[in-house]
Formats: sequence, C-alpha cells, structure tokens
Amino acid sequence: MSEFAVEALNIVRTFNDGDVRALDDVTLHVPTGQVFGLLGPNGSGKTTMVRILATILSPSSGSATVAGYDVVKQPNQVRRHIGLAGQNATVDENLTGFENLRMVGLLNHLNKAYVVAKSRQLLDDFGLSDAANRITKTYSGGMRRRLDLAAALVANPPILFLDEPTTGLDPQSRQDLWGIIERLVEGGTTVLLTTQYLDEADRLARQLVVLDHGKIIAQGTSAQLKAQMGATVLVLSFASTDDASRVRTLIADLSDKPANLEGTVIEMTVDNGPAVTADALRRIDGAGIALSGLALREPSLDDVFLNLTGHKAEDPTVEDATPGGRQRRRARA
Ligand SMILES: Nc1ncnc2c1ncn2[C@@H]1O[C@H](COP(=O)(O)OP(=O)(O)OP(=O)(O)O)[C@@H](O)[C@H]1O
Ligand SMILES: [Mg+2]
Repeated sequence: MSEFAVEALNIVRTFNDGDVRALDDVTLHVPTGQVFGLLGPNGSGKTTMVRILATILSPSSGSATVAGYDVVKQPNQVRRHIGLAGQNATVDENLTGFENLRMVGLLNHLNKAYVVAKSRQLLDDFGLSDAANRITKTYSGGMRRRLDLAAALVANPPILFLDEPTTGLDPQSRQDLWGIIERLVEGGTTVLLTTQYLDEADRLARQLVVLDHGKIIAQGTSAQLKAQMGATVLVLSFASTDDASRVRTLIADLSDKPANLEGTVIEMTVDNGPAVTADALRRIDGAGIALSGLALREPSLDDVFLNLTGHKAEDPTVEDATPGGRQRRRARA
C-alpha cells in the first residue's frame, strides 16, 4: 500500500441539481496506520465524504483512491479493503449478535469456519460474549455501536471508516469504544473517523481536517488547531444580561479572540487562562459587578468554529451567502 491509505483530490459533490454543495473542493491525504479525524458540525459534509470513499456515492467531480484503488473505476477492489461503521448502526434487529456477524461474513464470501471463529473472537473482544445469542433488538445503544463496529471488522479490513462512532453514547461507552479503536490502530489498521467532538479527535486522531459547509476551514494536528485558537476558554456568568454585556466590553482587550456573549454568559478563548482570569476578576470587581459563575474549560469544536468563522456552528441568525446555504440550514434544522 502507498504512503496514503486514502487520497481524495478536489472532491465536489452536489445534490438537488447543484443547489446543495455538500462537498466543495475537498482534498484529503490519510496516512497509513493512524487515525485521521474529519471534524465538522451537522451538515458539513462528513457522511457524504465517507460515502464517496466507501463507493456508496459517486463524486460530482474530483477523484479518490482507497488502498490505491480508484473509488469510481475500481469499487470492488476498494470494498475488499474497507470496513464501514455508519452513523446509524445497521445491525439486523431480529438476529442475535452472533448471527449478525456471521451474516456479514457469509455476505463477504468468507470461509464458514473462519467466520464462526472470527465472530466469536470479536464478540469477546467487544464485551458482547454474554449477549451473543440474544436478539439485537434487546441491545442498548452502546452494544449496537460495538456490534456494528465488530461487523465492520469481520473481514479484517486494513482501512476502517467510522462515521460518528460515539455520538449518542454515554461517557463510559465512549471511552470503551475509544480503547477499541486505539487497539485496532496499534494492530496496523488505518482509521478515518468523523466526529463533532474535538475531545474525541484530540484523543484519537493524529491529524485533523475541519469541514464547514463542505469546505476545509482548518487542518493540522490537534495541538496545532488548539494553538491556533488559544489554550482555554474562560466562562463568566452574571445575574443580568446588562452586567454581562458591560463586562464583555471591559475585558475585550484581554484576548485577541472575540468574547462571545449569550444571555448572561460570556465565553472567551484565552492563551493564558490563569493570568487572564485574574485580570478579568480584578476588572469586574473594580467595576462593582457581581459574578455569579466562573469556569475555565478545554476548547470544544464550537470554539474552533467561532474562532475560525466568526460565527457559531449552528447560528441561524448568520446569513449564509454561499450557494445552497439556506437549504443546508433548513436540512440541518
Ligand atoms: N442525498 C442527499 N440529497 C440532498 N442533500 C443531501 C443528501 N445527502 C446529503 N445532503 C446534504 O449535504 C450536506 C452534507 O450532509 P452530510 O450528511 O454529509 O453532513 P454531515 O457532516 O455528515 O452531518 P451530520 O453531522 O449531521 O451527520 C447537508 O446539507 C445535507 O442536507
Ligand atoms: Mg453525518
């Protein structure tokens, strides 16, 4: 396999006769043997990209190779090298966990004895042994996600596409799934992971691309992205919107990033959390304003967006002048 497990060049994908530009000139180079993160809010084009790379959907223009094979001209070869765990778990509700995995193996024309052994091993690896013979209708959301991922692994694919694998999971199930993904990569698998969460990308992905409205708005390592936006977010809350808006003006010069005001809460991305906090508190106190809440937190994907685009990822009041923007917002709403 080449240096890149996945190479996508200038991918454009439109829908509804060009009204919706789901992907607008996206180029990706996913190195072999690591987790590559595709971040973006709802409707940014993540699933569309995964579907194109998985040969489910064809690009309107541009080209892509997966494991060195062209997604349009050699879809069968591509499929033999990939596993896909989609956004909605695709397990058959009326089959048991074991039967689901066996079915996937047989659909892939794999040797029967291999499929049985591999299915048992995967169920064991993913903590589903006890539930192996239960109908999956009775599985929890976390169990379904794990089974869906197991199904993607039956054929031992060297490249795995995971589309928001932990959305909707509780914190423990997320951690469990992260551990599973890390072990897969240690074993040599390449993972293209989509997510809406910076903490997830941060934990798993060595390199990241951030999408907004189908366009790449940032890329690099998570450390680079964070450095670009400041290390911490200072959150201040007040008893009234009036107080909050006065303080926003008062502390505006403490960061080169805009302070975001929502109701009675101010959020500001800052480079030196403790020092800026101390400064802000002195000014607030000096102005005789009472603080009702204070926190410092890690930046989230929302902060990346706010800083990169000047608007919140889901802010409906911001006019979207790009073609199809209004449609995209309606679809997202
Ligand atoms: N089959 C389709 N027909 C029309 N529009 C589509 C179709 N598939 C996707 N879109 C639009 O393309 C844009 C990108 O959608 P996509 O599903 O790729 O986003 P996403 O980043 O995966 O979002 P989410 O986080 O909600 O899963 C959206 O505006 C969506 O409405
Ligand atoms: Mg999606």
